[in-house]
This record gives sequence, C-alpha cells and structure tokens, in this order.
Amino acid sequence: MKNYLVIGSPINHSLSPLLHNHWIKENNIKAVYSRKELNDNELENLISDVKTGKIDGVNVTVPFKEKIISYIDELSPEADKTKSVNTIFLNNGKINGHNTDIYGFEKALQNTKFNTLNKKIFIIGAGGVVPSIIVALNKMKVSEITLSNRTKNKAETLKNLYKHLNIVDWGEIPDFDMIINATSVGLNKQESLNLDFSKIKDKFFYDVIYNPNETDFLKNAKKLNNTTENGKKMFVYQAAAAFKIWHGIEPKINNKIFELLD
Ligand code: ATR
Repeated sequence: MKNYLVIGSPINHSLSPLLHNHWIKENNIKAVYSRKELNDNELENLISDVKTGKIDGVNVTVPFKEKIISYIDELSPEADKTKSVNTIFLNNGKINGHNTDIYGFEKALQNTKFNTLNKKIFIIGAGGVVPSIIVALNKMKVSEITLSNRTKNKAETLKNLYKHLNIVDWGEIPDFDMIINATSVGLNKQESLNLDFSKIKDKFFYDVIYNPNETDFLKNAKKLNNTTENGKKMFVYQAAAAFKIWHGIEPKINNKIFELLD
C-alpha cells in the first residue's frame, strides 16, 4: 500500500484527500491519501520518510510551499521560478519538488470564456499562491499585472522577483479586465476586503477561494453584471497534475468530480 499526504497548517479544510482518494479508487491503485497538520520543525522528518519510502508523495499547502524548498534536492523549473513547491516525490533517490499550481491556474482559465491575451490583470493579495498566478499569467501573455496588498512591503518583495509588476496602494483600484482575489478574505464570514468595486461592471472577477463556493467578492461582482469564477477548477487541475506525476495516470475530470467537492 502506497502512502500519500497533504501537509499544511491548518489542514482540516483541505479537500485534497477526498479528491485523490476518489481517483485512487477509480483507477484501482493500492494507495491511501491522508492529511497531516505539521509544525516547521517536523518538515525534516517528513522528508526523511519520503527518502526511506515510508511516504510516496506529498502535497504541500499554506504555509509550507516556500519553507519546504530547503529540504528539496531537485526543483522543477516551475518550482524554481516561483520559489513554491506543492508536489513532492522521490526520483532516483533524490527529493524532487514541483509546482502544479501554475498548470492548475492556466488550465482553469483556459476552461473559462475569458481570453487572457493582452488583458490587464489586477491581483489583490500577496500570499503563497501569487507567484504561481503571476508566472501562469505571463505564460498566457497578459499585457500588464498590477498588484495590491494590505501590507505593502509584501507586494514590494514580489516585485523584486517579478520586475514588471505594478504595485498600487491598498484601496486604489486601477483599470483592469480581470481581478483576482488571492487574499484569504472570504474563507471566513467575519472578514471583509473593504475595497470599493461598486462602479466596476462587465469585468471578470476570479477568486482563488473555492470553499465557500461564492465569496462576497464574487457575489457582489455578479450583482453588477461582472463574470465570476471561483478557484475550484484550479484546485482540481493542480491535483490532477500531482496525480499524474505520482501514478503516471491522467485522472478523469468530469461533473462528478465537481459535485464531489460541493
Ligand atoms: P501567507 O501570507 O502565509 O502565504 P495566504 O493565506 O496565502 O498566507 O495569504 C494571505 C493574504 O491575504 C495576504 O496577502 C494577506 O495580506 P497581508 O499580507 O496584509 O497579511 C491577505 N489578507 C488576509 N486578511 C486580510 C484582510 N482582512 N484584508 C486584506 N487582506 C488580507
């Protein structure tokens, strides 16, 4: 029996076990996928369990996507470019770290009616998923990316890595075709972005959050005739890419999968 794991803190909300175990069963693979809440000081042991074959693969989520890098022997170009690892596996005795979030975001957008070519993108937030979104958007040839974060120095740090980013103050809303909520606001009901989008119409609002299905950010945007999309497809596609790496099989993505996650 093979063992797979998603690590993070907190980790209870993760739907990765549900999705991976569904595909494992569907493909008659002898494996189990579970979740584990970790502290920073447990990362080293986890990696040694991968080296010894106790664990066959790991997905990494907030807040370890960057921290885990110091334990990785070989980074894929995508993981290196973003300094972010979400999928780990052993290859010829070496710990490999890959990033499937870029692919996940790209595929998710290709599945919408929004054509990214030469579009102006506005990202709010500067958390762990943002480097992957920036790299994916660059691949998709957007014309410009503007970013705003409540704590401005985190936005400036991202600009050191991606020189072409425009940074604006929190509260300032630039002209855009697509806006992406990459903050954690919306995950829990009490918080609010406190940004004024009341005059924005006929644009594309994307939220990385998929649970709840529709955040206030998306709900309000819809009322003003904007198009909306949540992060569920991104989540499914990043998981499918990890599954392919570990098992060599492309898992089925159909309505059943999206219903499973509702
Ligand atoms: P991490 O920062 O550990 O990667 P994350 O969940 O990926 O965690 O990112 C949280 C993002 O949501 C950050 O951009 C954070 O802004 P700060 O850098 O200012 O903390 C943003 N965020 C969280 N709560 C917020 C709020 N109430 N208003 C605006 N932005 C918020």
